Amino acid sequence: MRDLNGCSGSLSDELLEWYDRHARDLPWRVSPAARKVGERPDPYRVWLSEVMLQQTTVAAVRDYFLRFTTRWPSVADLAAAADADVMAEWAGLGYYARARNLLKCARVVADDLGGQFPDNHDALLKLPGIGPYTAAAIASIAFDEPVAVLDGNVERVMARLHDIHDPLPGAKPLLRDHAAALTPDERPGDYAQAVMDLGATICTPRKPACGICPWQTPCAARKAGTAPDLPKKMPKKPKPTRHGIVYLARSETGTWLLERRPDKGLLGGTLGWPGTDWTDAPTPNPPFTADWQELDGEVRHTFTHFHLVLRVQSARLQAGFNPAPNQELVPEEAFRATDLPTVMRKAYELYANR
Ligand code: ADE
Repeated sequence: MRDLNGCSGSLSDELLEWYDRHARDLPWRVSPAARKVGERPDPYRVWLSEVMLQQTTVAAVRDYFLRFTTRWPSVADLAAAADADVMAEWAGLGYYARARNLLKCARVVADDLGGQFPDNHDALLKLPGIGPYTAAAIASIAFDEPVAVLDGNVERVMARLHDIHDPLPGAKPLLRDHAAALTPDERPGDYAQAVMDLGATICTPRKPACGICPWQTPCAARKAGTAPDLPKKMPKKPKPTRHGIVYLARSETGTWLLERRPDKGLLGGTLGWPGTDWTDAPTPNPPFTADWQELDGEVRHTFTHFHLVLRVQSARLQAGFNPAPNQELVPEEAFRATDLPTVMRKAYELYANR
């Protein structure tokens, strides 16, 4: 059978055939061949991967995923972990609210749901840290519920397939309707992963590889020559720059003074250097009185909504220093810069390379 676009079979069948041959091998994924003989992915691994993949690339997530699942192989193991250990393993992935919600969610599933993730979109949506995208991804990939999964990759693929020029984010509902219309009742989990793979490997933001695309015939943007220009996006607001000072204090024997941030807000719950607020012109706020020395250079880091420029000052930490309740004295042998969020690790590196 041929559909309106001249493809034999349905669009989803065409894509699934391509996926059967080209699915990426990812540590949280069950291959299409294994799924066909009845193997199902572990919902815990699907959930963990999807939370990690929010705003983060597959390349960045791989090693984190392997470390987490080696250390905490089940949701019950993760639920029983110490908060500080999870925050330390998460360090460098960014968006730390995800790590705090990850623990909250693991504990709800382990304590209230007998260690079983709910098997449908609507019930998943009620769990901490699971929004519409993640609920749809888990429901389809882990439980083969035919719900549309709409991430940046899928938006791009839909905008091109239908040559939609309305800019994002306004075009989202329309793109969602198209994504929903294409989602098949057969193999919806493989289909969801297939669209993601298509967006990640062929229908890429720049220079899409239309010549090898399984949807090249039905693609309206390919026909119109507009694929590389889609999706259109509303211009972004320029990011402001904020400034701050961090204080690195180390004792004669190598002990560091670190501070745990309050749970709310950016970097909430993470361990880092004491410092000022981040503002246009920060008021110095050292953790103790000393002859603080400013290091040459500065730390630059970009968050979602602003650029941050940090000055770094250091001083000797005196033996017998009495830490505040939110502070920790970390001996040299226990200190690992990789346990800090990236912006704080950068400040350490400025000190280490001074
Ligand atoms: N991006 C988000 N979720 C993904 C998945 N399950 N596989 C590949 N890329 C993804």
